[in-house]
Amino acid sequence: MHIPLALTYDDVLIVPRRSTLASRSEANTKTRLTKKVSLNIPIITANMDTVTGSQMAIAMARMGGIGILHRFMGVEENADEVKKVKRAQSLIIEKPYTIDPDKTVEEAREYAEETGVTGMLVSNGDNRLQGVLSRRDFIFANGNDKKVRDIMTPREKLIVGNTYTTFEEAKKLFAQHKVEKLPLVDDDNHIVGLITSDDIKHIIEYPQANRDENGRLIVGAAVGVHGDYIERAQELVHAGADVLVIDIAHGHSDIMFNAISKLRDAVGDAQLIAGNIATAGAAKELCEAGVDAIKVGVGPGSICITRLVTGCGMPQLTAVTEAVKVARQYGVPVIADGGIAKSGDIVKALGAGADSVMLGSMFAGTQESPGVVMFKDGKRFKVLRGSASFTQSHTRKTAGLEKKKLKNVVPEGVESLVPYKGPVEDIVNQMVGGLRSGMSYTNSHTIAELQRNVEFVRMTGSGSRESGAHDVQTLT
Ligand code: XMP
Repeated sequence: MHIPLALTYDDVLIVPRRSTLASRSEANTKTRLTKKVSLNIPIITANMDTVTGSQMAIAMARMGGIGILHRFMGVEENADEVKKVKRAQSLIIEKPYTIDPDKTVEEAREYAEETGVTGMLVSNGDNRLQGVLSRRDFIFANGNDKKVRDIMTPREKLIVGNTYTTFEEAKKLFAQHKVEKLPLVDDDNHIVGLITSDDIKHIIEYPQANRDENGRLIVGAAVGVHGDYIERAQELVHAGADVLVIDIAHGHSDIMFNAISKLRDAVGDAQLIAGNIATAGAAKELCEAGVDAIKVGVGPGSICITRLVTGCGMPQLTAVTEAVKVARQYGVPVIADGGIAKSGDIVKALGAGADSVMLGSMFAGTQESPGVVMFKDGKRFKVLRGSASFTQSHTRKTAGLEKKKLKNVVPEGVESLVPYKGPVEDIVNQMVGGLRSGMSYTNSHTIAELQRNVEFVRMTGSGSRESGAHDVQTLT
């Protein structure tokens, strides 16, 4: 029996080339996530319940990547998570939250908490603007039994815009009048939208942000292939999800193809990403099934034990190379998912032909990842959990999301503690900085050039040892 060799990131290095890039800032990291959605940086956060919730998705889209919301919650809550991202930033909020002037301050506070907004427009049933309730009004309101109309800024004192107000005009009005909210009204004083100073600030602060055609941040969401997945997919798309990830451990299977065809019928031309797979044959069949991107990786993840439990998998660099060979012919983008532990691995994954990378553990333990900070031996930690871990199955079962008996669960993932890492932005900056440097070493101004320019060499154990810090005592 001939057994071929398969490689992963640590088995290879990229040969440096003469470079025409004077600085790594000349490297353009724009890429395709799916056939129709592009990213300004090729980084995606994994749909794991300890990695991506709405807070992570907001941070990632602002920096130019995308977060894929996990699906281990009820359908309604899942759709709400999408809405939170979609409402986090937009040029114009088309349907702003409103509150009735006769509600009490207490009720207004509760509503603000529930909707996650800091202030709101005041209007009764006819949608005519009567005032604005701002963050400041709440702070200085004494007595919770007062009515909204008693503490709001009334219509006659408001600065408002109209249907035609542009971004530049809004910016000027905010600077001139030092207000937080600019309601937009038509000639009959009907509310037609809202621009907030926070949104303007975010647009200026995050020029790399990925936005949809309405200026809202983009977000993805995961679905499975059993149970409520069709209803979930429809609700997620309805809430504004830009891409759906059909995510199962073995994506090259009949249940996957069945799900793709049912989802196509249910959600029309929504962008569908399918995975995970690890071979050229699987990539070909997924491309022919009409998906908009494929996700590659069977067992490379930091918390995965699939390869140990099942004996199956494929070292990740070879898996990516094999999938890319076929996906290119169909014009379908490839996502390299799992096993990325250093920025150099991102350069290698993209150099092997992937269009973007998905990371889990790297972003677990950050301020934005779901879960609480725990203390152990005076140090701060957060939990990172494999989607196929026993604890995950247990949690799903308790929440009524899983029918399988726990004694029948064969875990393919583990649960672990990761050190608390602070804001995700710091990590993304390191990763993108490393990628840009790698692009400079290979004379690549774009990701497409990187894919063409990369030449790999295989390393021996000595080469590998030489590649990290060695023969010194490191301080950090
Ligand atoms: P990293 O290495 O970035 O990998 O943490 C994240 C990816 O790991 C996959 N994943 C799993 N794989 N059992 C597995 O075999 C699991 O329990 C599990 N949970 C997550 C997933 O593809 C993710 O994006």
